[in-house]
Parts: sequence; structure tokens; C-alpha cells
Amino acid sequence: MSNLIVLGAQWGDEGKGKIVDLFSEKFDVVARYQGGHNAGHTVQVDDKKFVLKLIPSGVLHPGKQVVIGNGVVVDPQALLDEIDMLERAGLEVRGQIAVSNRAHVIFPFHRMVEKVSEGRTDRTAIGTTSRGIGPCYEDKIGRRGIRMADLLNPEVFDTLYNYLSEDKEITARAFGIENDLRVEEIRQHYRQMAERIRPLVCDTAYLLNQAMRDGKRVLFEGAQGTMLDIDHGTYPFVTSSSAAAGGACTGTGVAPTRIDGILGVSKAYITRVGAGPFPSEDPGEDGDRIRKAGNEFGSVTGRPRRCGWFDVPLLRYTAMVNGFDSLIVTKLDVLDGLKEIKVCTAYRVSGKQTMDMPAENGLMEEIEPVYEVLPGWPKAPTTGITRYDALPKEARDYVTFLEERTGVEVGCVSTGPERMQTMVRAGSKMEKLLK
Ligand code: GDP
Ligand code: IMO
Ligand code: MG
Repeated sequence: MSNLIVLGAQWGDEGKGKIVDLFSEKFDVVARYQGGHNAGHTVQVDDKKFVLKLIPSGVLHPGKQVVIGNGVVVDPQALLDEIDMLERAGLEVRGQIAVSNRAHVIFPFHRMVEKVSEGRTDRTAIGTTSRGIGPCYEDKIGRRGIRMADLLNPEVFDTLYNYLSEDKEITARAFGIENDLRVEEIRQHYRQMAERIRPLVCDTAYLLNQAMRDGKRVLFEGAQGTMLDIDHGTYPFVTSSSAAAGGACTGTGVAPTRIDGILGVSKAYITRVGAGPFPSEDPGEDGDRIRKAGNEFGSVTGRPRRCGWFDVPLLRYTAMVNGFDSLIVTKLDVLDGLKEIKVCTAYRVSGKQTMDMPAENGLMEEIEPVYEVLPGWPKAPTTGITRYDALPKEARDYVTFLEERTGVEVGCVSTGPERMQTMVRAGSKMEKLLK
């Protein structure tokens, strides 16, 4: 019985939602371990498209248990809106969702703090999703946050809310914000939402560990991507949580010894939303072409995603910090039509060639990508192909090239946004882990 982690190997939007939705069929429980409603996981089922922000992508399978773990930050309004959206689509998901009583709660003033910090003209903005994610995690680490368990206890909530809102008023005044923070109105609103959420909240660490003792299989769904991880990403241009595989354990209360496999999701190229270094970015015609063909616009903010070529040193780095057993390469079809495909196979930093990811942001910005050029498959579209041997030879050679250079097996290839436009390769480690 394998419990697996599926997470992003790049800067997010790799297609995790589609893959988790597809693989969910083989698991009993799907658990999110970090992030919040900054995530946008698109799942396309027949002609219906869902963008899940907070609720794990397994929820679209009726009856499947999904867990929002302690490592996630929850905006109760966003959670209720997402439940409403799914219920309007005819999915009675309420009975499927468990929310950790240790998950921290996002308040409107977290967005206010983020706006202040992103709006400072004397500092570099991160280009966040403006959902209050970072400031909520700041309060968590600062040991002044409010958890789901606290929200559900009226007396505890009142006391902690007094402390937290007082701090935020001080911050607002320090930055010259004179608007009313609507502290009492928000208190009442959160009290009401608490009652709607109460039936979903429990100690999900016990729930998950009991499920595993009962022989059930758990799939852990990462949000964002490893290069946005607070420790391992391109700091400070990162999100504020542990998106890498280690976060799956701290973010759910499941021991590392219970994890049987780690699967990385990577596009056949690479994208990034928001600011920060991006060595293989193509700001020219090819980048534009990829953006159009791949519909590379943010699913949360609608921002155009920056596009570029597959980055081997980056993938080797994320494979190292996560210990990928196998890779899922998505959006291979987006490269259809290109005569030539570039791959960044090494970095040149301060005149020296390297395969290592520098820690210093300045050095990241300095990277000159070293490219190798591979033949494309301009006349043989791959869209919707579901058999590996039916892919054009050049596309298979491209996949083999990625495997050889990254040192990780490509166990699954995706050729379109729909569930079934996917292939798991026969005889791969991925196939064994999914059995
Ligand atoms: P996530 O955040 O990792 O779940 O990814 P997003 O949902 O933000 O972005 C991935 C986008 O690519 C979504 O619009 C998906 O429907 C789409 N997608 C996923 N896999 C494929 C694929 O293989 N081919 C194409 N053309 N689109 C895909
Ligand atoms: P999914 O799960 C891509 C980026 C933001 C910004 C940085 C910090 O769909 O892959 P934040 O609001 O988290 O404090 O913003 O992280 N970012 C994402 N980029 N996909 C995501 O999620 C992202 N979530 C956050 O654009 O650069
Ligand atoms: Mg996304």
C-alpha cells in the first residue's frame, strides 16, 4: 500500500490539479499540506472546468475523503465560497471535507498587511497573489496566529482576536492607513462562519494516521512548486510555506516513514508568475507562442505567466531536495508545431559553468543559461495521445533527453488538459507506485 506525494517541480502551475484528480481514483484520501487559496489547480472533466484553490483536487470524485492539513492557511470565506461553487455544480462535497483544527485562519487584515508590504515604493515587490497568505504565516511563526480550534471556541477566539486586531491596527497606523479596519464587523462575520465550518473541523493528523492503519492509501497534494518553497526556492521571491516534499509531513502530522513515493510534476517547458529570477525565460516570440499555445495565464489572478525553456539544473535541484522517484511531464502538446526546442542544460555564473543552483538572488539574476537545441515535431501533433509508442519519435527522444539529463525517470506524460489525455508508462517505477 503506497502513500504518495505529488508536488510541483518548478515554479507552480505544472498541472498538479489535473494529475492529482486523475491519480485520486487509486487513493482513499487526498490531503493538502501547505499554502492556501493562492493555489489555482485546474481540473477539466469532460466539458466542465473547475479551479480548486483550497480544497484538494480529489474532491471531484464523489465520496472521496479530502483533508486540508494543519500546514494550510484557511480563509473561511474562500473555503465556503469554494464549497458553494462545487455544490452549485451539483457536487455535494461537504461530507467529503475535513479541515485540520490546527490550520491557521486568514483574516482580512492579513491582506491589508500584504498590500502595505507589496506597495512600498522603496522595496522590491514579490508579486504575490494578494490573498493574505504570507502575513498569516508570519503570525503563525510569530506565535500570535489564530487556529481553527481557536476560532471554534468563542472565548478563546475573542481574546486572541483582540490581541491580533490590536497589532494590526498599530501596523495600519504606522503606515498611515486611516481606514476603519472594521474589527467588530469582522469578529461577527468570523463567528458566523465558524458555525458553518464547525462540522468539517477535526484533528486531521489522527484521521490520516487512523486511515493508514486501516490500510487506506493517502495521496498528498502539494500546492505551488519547489522553487517557491520558503527554504529551497528563489528567496525572497517565494511563497511563505514548505511546498517541497518535507512539508507533506509537517503539514499533515504524518511521519516521513509512512511515505512510499514522491512524484514531481513538471511542464515540458517552464513558467513563472510574479517577480524573481528566471534563468531560462524567453521574453521573445517563442515565449509568446508558448503562452498562447499553453494558455499560460494565472488561474487565480489572471496574470500572464512568464514562459521559458525546460531548465535541467533547476529540475536536478528540485529532484535532489524532494527525492523524486519519478516525474510527470505535462503539456508536451504545447510544444507541438515547434521546429526546434531549446533546453537549458547548464548555467554559466560569473564566467564559470555549473549545474548547481546558487542561493544568492544576485547570482540567480546573473545566470546565463547554456542551451542545447533539439528537433521538434512540427508536423506530428501529440495532443490527446495516450500511448507512449504513438508519440512522434522526436517527442520520445525529447522525453528521453530530459530523463538522461535530470537523472529522473519520466513515468507519466500529459498531452492535454483532460483527465484521459495522459499516459503512465508501462514498466515504470511510477506504474508500480500507483498500483
Ligand atoms: P496547477 O496549479 O499545478 O494545478 O496547474 P494550473 O491548473 O494552474 O495550470 C495548468 C494548466 O494547464 C491548466 O489550465 C490545465 O488545465 C492545463 N493542463 C494540464 N495538463 C495539460 C496538458 O498536458 N496539456 C495542456 N495543453 N494543458 C494542460
Ligand atoms: P499553484 O498551486 C504559481 C507565487 C506568486 C508570487 C509568490 C508569492 O497553482 O501552482 P503568495 O501569494 O503565495 O505569497 O505569492 O508565489 N505563487 C504561485 N505561482 N502557482 C501557484 O500556485 C502560486 N502560488 C503562489 O505569484 O510570485
Ligand atoms: Mg496553478
